Amino acid sequence: MNVQDILRKHQQYMLPSMITYYQEPLPFQRGEGQYLYGVDGRGYLDFFGGILTVSVGHCHPRVTERICQQVRTLQHTSTLYPHANMVNLAEKLAHIAPRGLQKSFFTNSGTEANETAIMLAKVHTDTQEVIALRHGYSGRSALSMTLTGQASWRVGGTQILGIQHAHNAYCYRCAYNRAYPDCDLECAHDVEELIQTTTSGRVAAFIAEPIQGVGGFITPPPEYFRIVVDIVRQHGGLFISDEVQTGFGRTGGKWFGIEHWGVEPDMITCAKGMANGTPMGATVARAEVADSFTGLSISTFGGNPVSCAAALATIEVIEEEKLVTNAQVVGGYLRQRLEELKEKHPLIGEVRGMGLMQGLELVREYKEPARVEILQVFEATKRRGLLIGKGGSYGNVIRIAPPLNIAEADVDEAVRILDRAFVEAEDQ
Ligand SMILES: Cc1ncc(COP(=O)(O)O)c(C=O)c1O
Repeated sequence: MNVQDILRKHQQYMLPSMITYYQEPLPFQRGEGQYLYGVDGRGYLDFFGGILTVSVGHCHPRVTERICQQVRTLQHTSTLYPHANMVNLAEKLAHIAPRGLQKSFFTNSGTEANETAIMLAKVHTDTQEVIALRHGYSGRSALSMTLTGQASWRVGGTQILGIQHAHNAYCYRCAYNRAYPDCDLECAHDVEELIQTTTSGRVAAFIAEPIQGVGGFITPPPEYFRIVVDIVRQHGGLFISDEVQTGFGRTGGKWFGIEHWGVEPDMITCAKGMANGTPMGATVARAEVADSFTGLSISTFGGNPVSCAAALATIEVIEEEKLVTNAQVVGGYLRQRLEELKEKHPLIGEVRGMGLMQGLELVREYKEPARVEILQVFEATKRRGLLIGKGGSYGNVIRIAPPLNIAEADVDEAVRILDRAFVEAEDQ
């Protein structure tokens, strides 16, 4: 099918809320490694990886082979029957997850993983109230939209009671007009007052992303999580680390983002990069927390043999190709190159992130969000064959998240294209 027919049918038959990038949306036909190929055959260097999902490159031969093998053998049984792939994946997660996390529940998406985690926290603590973060993103169910801290992603979704949003550590736009480290982490300490004044004094959980993804790769100072989690635990709450974007080596040097911040979560939630693009969500909990839920629960497709095979193969590739380290090393190089770009282009207000999860916040004078210019950068990078992502509550953050097995040469190519795109945007 040609581009025009795909776009016509997209417009005619899909819900308009399903947003696409670019003035003229870009349909793809094929992927290989770090490249995607359009319907017209044109190649693009993919530095967004299907929203931080393609961890080991498009159609990695090992992952593809395992999926095909499993599809030919057995595709679906439901969670009513244990399957080797499911228990092997759960065992693997228990080994690589932060200390103490042992038992898994598999679903199909990050949204469901978060739903499961919040439900477990409520059951375990026999408490209802939850603390989430401003600028966070948790998914598209009613609960996860309510947990989300950005109006644009909450349409029709704020009806769940008992959720309070704490200030995130958005140092570039500090809510208290303070500067780190002199601020004494006022945003983190405020969680005590938030709980004392807006809840019953006891909470079920605090849920947060170690680096806020959709929020624009907002990266807190190292002390932030220790302070907040300590306060939450004093009020009876569990800590859920949403690793949907930061998990599986993305942040470099560690399997999970929260491991950078010196706190041990009671649960993590995973999806996206876990299975390289095959639908998969997981909630991994401390045994004590998991065991407190003894009621009935089912996920028809959750932990199906094909998705579990894809996840196992993805994790094996990450291990064998040492991609957690590669994300740290090449991520460090990417960061250095982006800092150089910032020196050159006044449009770049801040570079932030960790590993192969790097963001550029684009601003005009006085930090006014550069919402128009970012679109120009998008069109210019597209014309030159580079795919990047967008985020931030003000729609002005470029999100860069290539597959974990890219090389420095790929970074050089991406930075060269970005450089040209910024020149074009600044000239307009
Ligand atoms: C941090 C985070 N949590 C949860 C979700 C929801 O995941 P899904 O889209 O798979 O439901 C997302 C999706 O972008 C996310 O970034």
